[in-house]
Amino acid sequence: MAAYKGGVGKTTIASELAYVMGAVLLDLDWDRGNATRAWGYRTEQRASAPLLDAIEAGRTPRPLVGKRKADLVPCHEDF
Ligand SMILES: Nc1ncnc2c1ncn2[C@@H]1O[C@H](COP(=O)(O)OP(=O)(O)O)[C@@H](O)[C@H]1O
Ligand SMILES: [Mg+2]
Repeated sequence: MAAYKGGVGKTTIASELAYVMGAVLLDLDWDRGNATRAWGYRTEQRASAPLLDAIEAGRTPRPLVGKRKADLVPCHEDF
């Protein structure tokens, strides 16, 4: 999901669509209203950054398992 305009439902649609399709929610949009925080993931409570680590290592990130929500590759402020 991508659009320049804010507040049009990108985060909501991406999160819901990933869940109903059984797909992975890959969050590439860092801001305080992002899908990662809505999912319940707090970067400030984590020592690693799965997305950044995967990019730097050239490997596929392993998604976090979601319960009644999509599996997630979380974003990070440094992305
Ligand atoms: N289909 C919808 N109907 C009503 N409100 C919606 C809908 N989709 C999103 N919203 C609400 O609109 C606001 C912005 O949605 P959000 O998904 O954060 O947009 P974006 O990611 O494009 O900035 C949120 O408060 C969200 O709950
Ligand atoms: Mg958003």
